[in-house]
Amino acid sequence: MDNKIRVFATCDIGEAIDLLRKRGYEVEVYPRPEAPPKSLIIDKVGSGIDGLITTLRDPIDAEVFEAGKGTLKVVAQIAVGFDNINRADANRYKIPFTHTADVLTEATAEFAFFMMGALARKMWTAEHLTRDNQWGYWHPYLPFLGDEVTGKTLAVIGTGRIGLAMIKKSVGFDMNVLCYDPAYENQAFVRTIQEVNELRHSRGLSKEKVSIRYVPFEEALDGADFVSVHVPLLRAEDSATPTYHLFNEKTLRLMRPTAYLINTSRGPVVDEKALARALRENWIAGAALDVYEKEPLPSDSPLRDPAIADRCRLFPHFASAARITRLSTDPDKGMAGRCAQGLIDVLEGNYGGDVAQMPYVVNKEAFK
Ligand code: GLV
Repeated sequence: MDNKIRVFATCDIGEAIDLLRKRGYEVEVYPRPEAPPKSLIIDKVGSGIDGLITTLRDPIDAEVFEAGKGTLKVVAQIAVGFDNINRADANRYKIPFTHTADVLTEATAEFAFFMMGALARKMWTAEHLTRDNQWGYWHPYLPFLGDEVTGKTLAVIGTGRIGLAMIKKSVGFDMNVLCYDPAYENQAFVRTIQEVNELRHSRGLSKEKVSIRYVPFEEALDGADFVSVHVPLLRAEDSATPTYHLFNEKTLRLMRPTAYLINTSRGPVVDEKALARALRENWIAGAALDVYEKEPLPSDSPLRDPAIADRCRLFPHFASAARITRLSTDPDKGMAGRCAQGLIDVLEGNYGGDVAQMPYVVNKEAFK
């Protein structure tokens, strides 16, 4: 009887698959780029695999865990977010699931920062002008101007890993920062940034004194030139501080008409119909989105309205899509490496087999 460790991956994660094979694992990879049907995942799990590698697009719930009863030992997700995995179901079936936090923090934050710059400086519109041969003159303000990022006020909504990385990047741009987080205020981090700001000012690196502080949500929206969203998706049934449609008609109206919204967190945090209206009716100056209520973005999305195309930048859930971040086999550098290591930790009983000690396991509470 062959007792090789068997793994099914719903997508290719590059050389990290070879790394598992070199350890003697039998790994089957779903060969197509799009998500496999859920029925196929259930069939594979039901066939007795030990480990399942998943992405954000795979719904993992009681049906999947039931199919793997007695055989499935771990679900290893290649993403930091895990809203596709039903945590309560995983806990009920006592299946640990892992994620790839940390290694995509800087890549995601830098992309959010670049989105902010591209939006405010109208890079897309300006490039189209050039490509479409509409660049007929140099003029002080025609055909349009953008807005500077340097020296402006950035509201960071959600100060977890990625929110803090966004703040770090804002330091070099002399930005004032308004922080909001419903769950935890990292005052030590804020003090450190303030010290850096003061040093930069006292040594002549920044002209104006800038500040950073935690404020209530409404104050953050009201006071910001840029609002960057970095919260997890939490629904009302799962959390006392839900983030579903945190940005809606009411809250979008709290932003300044000159302000920009950047979302690299989760699509459903923003009510897209309300946002499209806010852009059409100029409640805000623009938005740049990397995530959507439904992905890929449907062809009839109100965000595709040509009337708002000049102020609505749309990206394909791309913030962590950088070579090393996605594919390095080093668990300290790449999502693929971290995903493989999370799987290995559980399947090979690292940390003395104590799942609650394994760094990449999310649902430790089920094993304490
Ligand atoms: C991407 O959105 C992720 O959660 O890794």
